[in-house]
Formats: sequence, C-alpha cells, structure tokens
Amino acid sequence: MSDIAKRKRIEDELKASEVRYRRLFETAKDGILFLDADTGRITDANPFLQDLLGYSHAELLGKMLWEIGPFRDIAASRGAFRKLQRKKYIRYDNLPLETKGRRHRHVEFVSNVYRVNGTEVIQCNIRDITARYQAEQALADTGKLLEQRVEARTAELLMANRLMKNMLDEGKRAGEMIAKSRERLRNLSGRLQSLLEEERTRISREIHDVLGQTLTAMKMDLSLISRSLASDGHAGHSAKIREIERNVNNIIRTVRRIATDMRPGILDELGVAPALEWLVKDFQKRTGISGKIVLRGVDRTTDTVLSTAIFRIVQEALTNVMRHAAASQVTVSLEKMNNALILEVKDNGIGIMEERIFHSKSLGLIGMRERVLLLGGEVAISGKPGEGTLVRVTIPTGSGAISNV
Ligand SMILES: Nc1ncnc2c1ncn2[C@@H]1O[C@H](COP(=O)(O)OP(=O)(O)O)[C@@H](O)[C@H]1O
Ligand SMILES: [Mg+2]
Repeated sequence: MSDIAKRKRIEDELKASEVRYRRLFETAKDGILFLDADTGRITDANPFLQDLLGYSHAELLGKMLWEIGPFRDIAASRGAFRKLQRKKYIRYDNLPLETKGRRHRHVEFVSNVYRVNGTEVIQCNIRDITARYQAEQALADTGKLLEQRVEARTAELLMANRLMKNMLDEGKRAGEMIAKSRERLRNLSGRLQSLLEEERTRISREIHDVLGQTLTAMKMDLSLISRSLASDGHAGHSAKIREIERNVNNIIRTVRRIATDMRPGILDELGVAPALEWLVKDFQKRTGISGKIVLRGVDRTTDTVLSTAIFRIVQEALTNVMRHAAASQVTVSLEKMNNALILEVKDNGIGIMEERIFHSKSLGLIGMRERVLLLGGEVAISGKPGEGTLVRVTIPTGSGAISNV
C-alpha cells in the first residue's frame, strides 16, 4: 500500500473516531463543558447543558465560567477555577444552580484537566441530580415530620399518663377514705349493738326480778286473802279474788315472756348451746314448724359477744323462716371445727329469691352480715325454689379470732 493510501486510511479512521466522539458529546444525557485551562473561557458546551442551563451555544461560547448566570452565585467559582488549575481535579456532589429561566436545579459537578496537543483543556461533567435531591429532601422532611409527630404524641401520652396517675391517686385516696369511714361505721354499729344488748339485759333483769317478784308476792297475798275470806263465809268475794289471782298469773307469764324475748337469761346463765335448744323448742311451740337442733363440739360459751351474735343470728333466721319461707321444717346446727365455728339454719320452704340476698332493703340479712364481719367471719345465703333456704355462717376461732366456744 502506498504512503498516500496509508495516510488517507489514517485520516479516514480519525474522521470516523471524531464523528463517534462528537455524537457521544451531542447525545450525552449529562452536561459537558470544555474550558480553555489558561484563560478559563468556555470553548464548547453540549446540547444537554444548553437545555439544562437555558443558554444557547452562542451565549456560552467564550464566556468565563463565573460570567454566566448559573455559576455567578458560586463565589467560589474563581477560587475553584484556580484550585482546578492547581489540582487538575475538582468535584462538587451537590451544587445548587439557578437557570436562565430562574428554575432551581441541583447538579453534580466534576472537572478534569488534561492536555490536548500541548494545550490544557478543562472538561466539566455536569449531571442533573435535582430529582434525586428533591426525593432525598422530601424523605428528610418526612422524617423530620414523623419525628415531630412522635415527639408530640409522646408528650400527649406523658400528659395522659400523668392525668391517669393523678386520677388513680385521687381514686386511691377516695377509696382509703371510704374504707376508713366504712370501718368507723362498722365500729359504731358494733358499739350500738353491744349497747343495745346491755340495755336489753338490764331491762330484762329488771322486769324479771323486780316486776316478777312483786307480782309473785301479790299472787301469794291474794291466795291468802281468798282463803281467809272463804273461811269467814264471804264466798262471793272469794270468787272475785280468785279471778284477780288468775289475771295476776297471766301478767306474770306475760312479763316473763317479755323478759326472755328481750334477752333470755339462759344465754348468760348456761351459754349458747342450751339457749339455742330453748330457742328452737320455743319456735316450734309458737309456730308449729318442726324444729331440730344439732350441736357438735360446742361447749359452754365464755364469750358473750360471740354467743350473743350466734343467738341473734339464729333468732333472725328463724323469724325469717316463720315470716317468709312457708316451711314445715327447720334445722339449726352449730358445729365447732378446728379453727372455725359453723352455724347453719336450713329450712324446707320456698327458697329465698336471688335478688333478696344482697338487696339494700334486706336489713335483717345486712344486720346478720355486720355481726359476723365484726367477728371476722362470713355469711353465705343460698336458696333454691321449692328446696328451701340455707344460711351458713363461718366464724374463725383460731389464733387472733375472738375467744372460743
Ligand atoms: N328463709 C327464707 N325463705 C324465703 N325467703 C326468705 C328467707 N329469709 C329471707 N327471705 C327473703 O329475704 C328478704 C330479706 O330478709 P330480711 O333481711 O330478714 O328482711 P325482712 O325479714 O325484714 O323482710 C325477705 O323479705 C324475704 O323475701
Ligand atoms: Mg328478717
């Protein structure tokens, strides 16, 4: 091949290469800018950069970098250029720009210096990262917003928490006050009950001893008078006196009845077991309802509070059987276990209605519970229609409990 042909081929290849790089430059999706490294003037800018900045090729050509709007604000431009001349490389990850049309853009800016045919050329690659930047920004904003919301919510929760704690404290205080006042009421009720029992005992004795003895003396006097009148031949008067005698007898019985109803002497004299036996027998006699009593392990009572409580509870339960149960049979049982006393009153009547058991108007049952509570025990009442009612009282007698039976 001749030299001419060789040169022609090299020229052709060069031309082809030039066309390829030119096309790369023209179609690149990044901005590309060439500057003269000595003067800093723009020697070329690709279409993408022209579009990005909004300047025509002619407007850009021959300008210094900092003479065109978008780079004007970068005070560092002149300095950056010098640095570039010195270091041959410069990079900005995120450079904010304002285009000719006053649009704000963010670009990644990379410059290199290299030598072409003995002169230094600066090539700047400018990539539009606005979309990425905005997305990052939005993400950061969302993050900040979320953080603020979390903070606000935390503050709200703390507030609610504090409020709740205050309410709980108040509730607790109120609960304590209620508990205290309930305790006071219970003490008061206990005190009233013992006062009532004392008073009943006193009146009952007074009636029995004073009234009873006076009446008995009257009765004896009357029979004496009646006999002497009869022997003196005043039979008519004698009959009248005998009638008075009978009335006095009735009064004596009534007075005894009132005295025992108030507080049977047997309770204080012989204890709770004989008192219950008497009570059940008396109940049967008065009502015609068959009464049974079962006593297990119950000795003489030394504790009057306990025996009074048991006696009054049975009295109330039996009165209820008479008034409400329509029963034909009732069984009272008192049993002493190891560390508890179990008292049961069971009838075979209609059965107490569920809602009556804890009704606020069931004062008899409330009184029962109060007495038992004072002794540290509990009351269980149950009833089944047609099967009767069971009142079951458990009173602890172990250490700490009130005395023993
Ligand atoms: N053994 C019972 N059988 C059926 N009902 C009963 C019995 N004991 C109580 N009751 C019911 O429970 C209610 C409450 O009894 P209580 O508190 O003693 O009040 P009271 O006897 O003054 O009515 C009674 O009114 C009655 O309806
Ligand atoms: Mg009652």
